[in-house]
Amino acid sequence: MIKLENVCKSFDDLDVLKDISLEINDNEIYGIIGQSGAGKSTLLRCINGLEDYQSGKIFVDDVLVSNKDKKSLHLLQKNMGMIFQNFNLLERLDVYDNVALPMKFWGMKTNTPEAKKKIEGLIRMVGLEDKMHARPRELSGGQKQRVAIARALVLDPKILLCDEATSALDPAITRGILTLLQQIHKDMGITIIVVTHQMEVVKQICEKVAFIKEGRVVAIGKPEELFIHPNKDIKSFLHEDSDLLPDDGVNIQLFFTDESADEPIISNMARKLNIDFSISWAKLEDFRSHIYGSLVITVNEEDREKVLEYLDSVKVLWEVLN
Ligand SMILES: Nc1ncnc2c1ncn2[C@@H]1O[C@H](COP(=O)(O)OP(=O)(O)OP(=O)(O)O)[C@@H](O)[C@H]1O
Ligand SMILES: [Mg+2]
Repeated sequence: MIKLENVCKSFDDLDVLKDISLEINDNEIYGIIGQSGAGKSTLLRCINGLEDYQSGKIFVDDVLVSNKDKKSLHLLQKNMGMIFQNFNLLERLDVYDNVALPMKFWGMKTNTPEAKKKIEGLIRMVGLEDKMHARPRELSGGQKQRVAIARALVLDPKILLCDEATSALDPAITRGILTLLQQIHKDMGITIIVVTHQMEVVKQICEKVAFIKEGRVVAIGKPEELFIHPNKDIKSFLHEDSDLLPDDGVNIQLFFTDESADEPIISNMARKLNIDFSISWAKLEDFRSHIYGSLVITVNEEDREKVLEYLDSVKVLWEVLN
């Protein structure tokens, strides 16, 4: 659905996107995560043509995104709904008219029975039927984002772009918005790109994620692969640098998946090998309702070989940390 080939973008002499290549499949929920200033919003704005880029190519649905062809760019933009951190609702319009706004912009009638059905249907879908004629200032942050989501869907886009859509909301409201996005994805079959600096967001809904650092893609994969077995850059983003681990003994990190998470591998090992160990660090996380975890155990140097042999025999993934 979306393909970026070696995209570079700079503002004057500031290089913001450096040789970005990635592919987003039709009907995928794709996350783009990275620190503030990494270039995530700029990347999204290049994808929907709000921002031009200097070199490389961006294709959306096989059409080249380019400022040179304004007509095809506008048609592409019609196919991409967008939501933001600050909701961007118009205060002088009520919920209904805010949702109807893109139709007005495209010169469509918003008071015909079909248009009314469409707009009211979307407002019902986001759970705001009792707020149909409320003004934005009468809504909570979560409710405002629901209006923004309905508005982003009113032209039946194939793609929904979300830029830090939940960053201003508390954790419970965030979960509600993410569940709504998952529902929309399932019911309408649209492709969703989620730009965020929140791990929680990626964990809860993304099927694939690209990690961006200083304008470069430094890792792409399933969230559970990237975050349970992180590379150096992601470790530092997650503040999981291993400098808190003990200096004495051998630190071995083990990785668990759904299947292995409930087996008593470690206690079996201690019993069978008759060794002592300590647990130096652990995490267990939920990725789209699948549990993944990792654990660092510290064993005595003299037990190193038999422990690693044992771990191989039970087919658990492991890594010796320095
Ligand atoms: N219109 C602009 N003119 C000049 N520099 C810009 C412009 N827009 C963004 N930048 C710069 O580009 C870099 C990337 O900004 P961008 O907004 O894409 O980051 P981000 O990853 O979305 O950050 P955040 O998580 O804080 O939203 C920053 O250094 C920013 O100052
Ligand atoms: Mg941003």
